[in-house]
Amino acid sequence: VRWAQGDLCPLLFRTLILLAVCLTHEGASYRQFVTQHFDNPKTNAANDRLYCNLLMQRRGLTRIFCKRRNTFIHAPAGQLQAICARGGTHVSLNLYDSLESFNVTTCRVLPRSLPGNCRYRAAIGNTKIRVACVKGLPVHLEPTYLP
Ligand SMILES: *[C@@H]1O[C@H](CO)[C@@H](O)[C@H](O)[C@H]1NC(C)=O
Repeated sequence: VRWAQGDLCPLLFRTLILLAVCLTHEGASYRQFVTQHFDNPKTNAANDRLYCNLLMQRRGLTRIFCKRRNTFIHAPAGQLQAICARGGTHVSLNLYDSLESFNVTTCRVLPRSLPGNCRYRAAIGNTKIRVACVKGLPVHLEPTYLP
């Protein structure tokens, strides 16, 4: 019976690890990266502030609450994928810095914004970016270099 007790905990442990891995994967996929951070060519709007108001809503980032901060990258998907390979330099763990600079728009929510009427201010920039890669694809955008 001794072994049974000793085996139960590792099993529980492994289940929890598996669950954690699944949840982590759910929260960080290439598809989600594209939805949240990819807009190329940049969607037309009268100005960058209205661009943010439009895109944040259109990409579902204002449903439950107004997402406070989000950056859209205006570059071909191939160039973003390449950061995880020849187009990037390894930083640490699964983080990579792009060799190239990209046009980006960062949207920051204005005070007292509420879902249904989320209002943003915009900051544009041309910068290299830092991403987390999983299986050769970017899944997460680090704020490191962003405007
Ligand atoms: C980046 O933005 C600048 C200024 O808005 C623009 O002139 C340039 O064409 C853009 N570059 C690319 C690669 O889209």
